[in-house]
Order: sequence, then C-alpha cells, then structure tokens
Amino acid sequence: MSINQLVYISQAVRKMSAEDLHAILHTAKSNNQHIDVTGSLFYNGGWFMQVLEGPLETLNALYKKIEKDPRHKNSRILYNEPAKFRTFTRWSMNMTNLENRQADKYDQLVEVIDAATTDRKIGAASPAVTLLKMFRE
Ligand SMILES: Cc1cc2nc3c(=O)[nH]c(=O)nc-3n(C[C@H](O)[C@H](O)[C@H](O)COP(=O)(O)O)c2cc1C
Repeated sequence: MSINQLVYISQAVRKMSAEDLHAILHTAKSNNQHIDVTGSLFYNGGWFMQVLEGPLETLNALYKKIEKDPRHKNSRILYNEPAKFRTFTRWSMNMTNLENRQADKYDQLVEVIDAATTDRKIGAASPAVTLLKMFRE
C-alpha cells in the first residue's frame, strides 16, 4: 500500500518533563500501531519535530488531532509527500529527547531542528528532507 511521510514542527507550551514526554509517547505508540502509522518524535527543550508515516488519509486525520493538542502550539507542516518506503519501520513511535544530549546523531538533530524553527535550509536541502535522509537505512 502506498504511504506518505508527514513532518511537522511545533512549539511546546511549557518545559516538558520526562513524565510528560513518556505520556505522549505512550499514547502515540498505542494508537499508531492500530492505524499502521510509524514514525519518530524529537524534542529539543522547546520544540517538537515529528515524522509520521502511513496511509495519506490516516496521516491527515491523525495530524488534525495532534495539532489540536494543548501541549504544543504553532504547529507547521514542513513536508507531506508520498514515499516508496518507510524510514522508521521499527517504531509505531520513537522519542528522542535532545535535552539529555545522549542521542545518536545529536549534533545533526540539533542543527535540523534549529534550521526548521528558523526557516533555514541545510545546504540545498530542507530540514525535513535532511532528517528523513539521516535515518534512511
Ligand atoms: C508532540 C505530540 C506528538 C503526538 N504524537 C501522537 C501520535 O503520533 N499519535 C497519537 O495517536 N497521538 C499523538 N499525540 C497525542 C494526541 O495529540 C492526542 O492526545 C491523542 O492522540 C489522543 O489519544 P486518545 O484519543 O487515545 O486519548 C501527540 C501529542 C503531542 C503533543
């Protein structure tokens, strides 16, 4: 079945604690596995950047729901395109908290989110495309 990849950024309304992030991840994982959605969520202390992968209609409906979540605001879609393959095949949702600096690809991820929030490209590529390429196997 054909799938889309949707990438958005949003601003956390407050500093998220480990428990806050865990609660979001828990809900995301348990919902996404039933609707054939995979992806990854990144948090840098102020902003979220999330990749969602799945059937187009499913993603659009899911994004509408996520966008209304009071834990974040100013959500903006950066990328929403068909894809031949999923990038995050193993995760109904995965969370990377960049605040604890232990993430793989830490420097690149910080740069990607920074570029996205300030509307910059990374070389010739958009931040969303750079992010997807970083994790392609
Ligand atoms: C940054 C962020 C990312 C989220 N990602 C997802 C997600 O991938 N899937 C999901 O079902 N809910 C996600 N949520 C939660 C939804 O906004 C919403 O609370 C949830 O889907 C409601 O689930 P329920 O109807 O089972 O209570 C996210 C929330 C935030 C703040």
